[in-house]
Amino acid sequence: MAVLALSAATAQAETLVVNTAKKGAEISPTMYGLFFEDINYAADGGLYGELVKNRSFEFPQNLMGWQTFGNVELKNDGPFERNPHYVRLSSAGHGHKHTGLQNEGYFGIGVEKGEEYRFSVWARTESGDTAALRILLVDPFNLEESQNIAEKTLKVASKEWKKYSVVLTPNKTMQKAQLRIFLKKPDKNTVDLEHISLFPVKTFNGHENGLRADIAQKLADVKPGVFRFPGGCIVEGTEIPDRYQWKNTVGPVENRPTNRNRWEYTFPHRFYPDYFQSGGLGFYEYFLLSEEMGAEPLPVVNVGLVCQYQNNNLKAHVPVDSLDEYIQDAVDLVEFANGATDTKWGALRAEMGHPEPFNLKYLGVGNEQWGPEYVERLKKFVDVLRVKCPEIKIVGSSGPSPSGDKFDYLWPEMKKLKVDLVDEHYYANEDWFKKNAARYDSYDRKGPKVFAGEYACHGKGKKYNHFNASLLEAAFMTGLERNADIVEMATYAPLLAHYEGWQWRPDMIWFDNLGSVATASYYVQQMYAKNKGTNVLQATVDAAPLTGAEGQNGLYATAAFDAPTGDYIVKVVNIAPEAQSIDIKLDKLKKNDAITSVETITLKSDDPMAENTVAKPDVVVPVTTTAAVELNAKNPVYTLSMEPNSFKVLRFKK
Ligand code: AHR
Repeated sequence: MAVLALSAATAQAETLVVNTAKKGAEISPTMYGLFFEDINYAADGGLYGELVKNRSFEFPQNLMGWQTFGNVELKNDGPFERNPHYVRLSSAGHGHKHTGLQNEGYFGIGVEKGEEYRFSVWARTESGDTAALRILLVDPFNLEESQNIAEKTLKVASKEWKKYSVVLTPNKTMQKAQLRIFLKKPDKNTVDLEHISLFPVKTFNGHENGLRADIAQKLADVKPGVFRFPGGCIVEGTEIPDRYQWKNTVGPVENRPTNRNRWEYTFPHRFYPDYFQSGGLGFYEYFLLSEEMGAEPLPVVNVGLVCQYQNNNLKAHVPVDSLDEYIQDAVDLVEFANGATDTKWGALRAEMGHPEPFNLKYLGVGNEQWGPEYVERLKKFVDVLRVKCPEIKIVGSSGPSPSGDKFDYLWPEMKKLKVDLVDEHYYANEDWFKKNAARYDSYDRKGPKVFAGEYACHGKGKKYNHFNASLLEAAFMTGLERNADIVEMATYAPLLAHYEGWQWRPDMIWFDNLGSVATASYYVQQMYAKNKGTNVLQATVDAAPLTGAEGQNGLYATAAFDAPTGDYIVKVVNIAPEAQSIDIKLDKLKKNDAITSVETITLKSDDPMAENTVAKPDVVVPVTTTAAVELNAKNPVYTLSMEPNSFKVLRFKK
């Protein structure tokens, strides 16, 4: 094995030979993507723009998140069948200054000075006479009237339930404001309120039931090829009734039932009593987001199993002979996404605003399941889906870890069932990522393809999302790309985490109520996704790929051709603490091929523990430089200096 030069100043550099003449395997456009799960308050309190917690009063403790004043009554015969609770506000009467209620939001309500926030509510008055409401944004620690951040009056003037709205413009930026609603004096008319909501007017692409713009924009900026949703363990639920049911997340938001979140509890002893799913960010919104990001949607459906980690009781699962409803849900989902507008579910999609099909091609059946209990259930789904939805590629599971009994049992079973892709998960330490860049070099090429559906590198101790973990992810990912003939897609996980409500780390993007930050791992994903190319090119040193193997001095590399631009793309990772010099030989260039510039995107840090935060988002960010070069068939060598601990993407341009 060749020994590479340890410093630009030392011995002559070794040569990475990139064969430009032979286009290798196609790199699937889905290759690098995003996996979304409502964990770490990623949906309600995160990506979903809603700022009111428990807007429909349907948490098991119906007034959780709300504080009431004066004369407020909880009722349960409201206009929305699946969310029947609402509140009745009547005169405060003696001894009370006001009748009203106040919502604490998710860890408070983040508002920006001068921005617009749309308050809306379904309301009616008991008599039909007009009642006025004061709608306020307040500082919960300073309730002086003069300190209110925003105020509007809203008049309710009908006996019938109707939706009303006003726009509030705060005069102050606050991380933790609250929403207050008072029955305006004289408070002689009784008012009923249901589905009390507050959204920023500026959501991602301006949708009313929309997404928080800064977070959604970060997702779109990855340029993901695939978008997997809605999880994760929440697909499974703690008990079968809590499983994610996509049909409960489509149609009017007011009538989408609240669901328990499996992440209310995390081992060993964290409990989040207010963590529920509103369903407001539902399957229609996920499909739309996929489309707007240019990513293939990859929904995952429940296979009749609850979360096997949390509830490993065989009796908790759906009996194998009672799966019809679950299988029908999967078939109907394909109709919702792809069906004509005269089909039941296609019509609903059209009614929601998207008559064109979403063009669904992939479906995950079961999340991170294992054991014969999974295989026997999956088989039932596969049998039906192959007949009723032949256009759909089915994704099966290989369990929770990248090796071991569960994994070894499942892969052959997945082959027997002829699923199209197998989802592999690896939440592993630095050593694993360092050593596994050649993992797929020896995979069977005849079976299902691989979906690296959940992975993240973690370090020892308390540091998370630190630079070194992202560098090792970059190193490992050279192996995904080199094996693009078998690896069809890959998604880092988890995607999002609220600083004040996380259950799992590391995560790709962190946020608080006003800001969000891309981690170094985010930038690694983005560098791969934006520079994936269309075909693998062979890249070797002494006929061997650079996989960080012994004697390769911690170097990893992969190369690709990009048909639309004609660029040759080379990715190199140096995990050694020393600078290294590598000659990149663009071998077998055609006579007329003239490379005139090379664009280099570098991610590096001298501090392996460096991390980005909302306060300091630019500690580890990619830097792009461009240099003029003259490379051609006669002069095909470019000398690359790799700084210690660095990841570089080079685009050789004609
Ligand atoms: O990403 C966090 C969790 O990890 C997912 O919900 C689950 O699939 C896996 O165990």
